[in-house]
Amino acid sequence: MSKIKWKGGALTAPVPPALITCSDGEHDNVFAVAWTGITCTQPPKTYISVRPSRFSYDIIKNSGVFAVNLTTEQLVRAADTCGVRSGRDVDKFQLCSLTKEPAFHIDCPLIAESPLSLECRVDRIINLGSHDMFLADIVGVSVDEELIDKTGKLRLDKAGIAAYSHGEYFALGRKLGWFGFSVCKKKKHKHGKR
Ligand SMILES: Cc1cc2nc3c(=O)[nH]c(=O)nc-3n(C[C@H](O)[C@H](O)[C@H](O)COP(=O)(O)O)c2cc1C
Repeated sequence: MSKIKWKGGALTAPVPPALITCSDGEHDNVFAVAWTGITCTQPPKTYISVRPSRFSYDIIKNSGVFAVNLTTEQLVRAADTCGVRSGRDVDKFQLCSLTKEPAFHIDCPLIAESPLSLECRVDRIINLGSHDMFLADIVGVSVDEELIDKTGKLRLDKAGIAAYSHGEYFALGRKLGWFGFSVCKKKKHKHGKR
């Protein structure tokens, strides 16, 4: 593999094209964020990096809460619309036919069509440059009960979660392994070794 060298840039993939909901009591809003992820397991923490020019920026700064709603294949068009239109001009819940549902722990709507929503309370805001990072505690998780199997396991693989990679949206493909599979002893197949 022969590689070319570029200067540093914001390139990683895939990332979630997440739908972020927020509210200041007067305005409920939703926008798309790709710069998000988990930063700590215990206590559970997440972040979103947001440009101060976004309508949502002040809403989140003032309310101190937001929700990360995972985007499915069915929600990709809505996520894209929420990422190119501003809540300053339009009610994006209405425009994208997204149903608001109340959160359990925070004063902010969740998206009923999303299979998994993280309810987040802002811990600190870190000025980074183009974006400010809202580091937040995940104070609650709301999950579609149909994704819980008989053993109580969350089957997120059944949710049709979408991915975002370098400006394009994708459906997740086939399963390639599972946590730790590389060091597990090979299972014997019923009818012999595979
Ligand atoms: C897939 C996708 C990912 C995006 N990721 C981010 C992001 O991580 N941070 C950000 O500030 N804006 C991001 N945007 C842009 C905002 O979603 C967009 O500016 C939106 O219109 C802001 O809405 P608002 O003005 O209602 O807050 C993204 C847009 C798309 C389509």
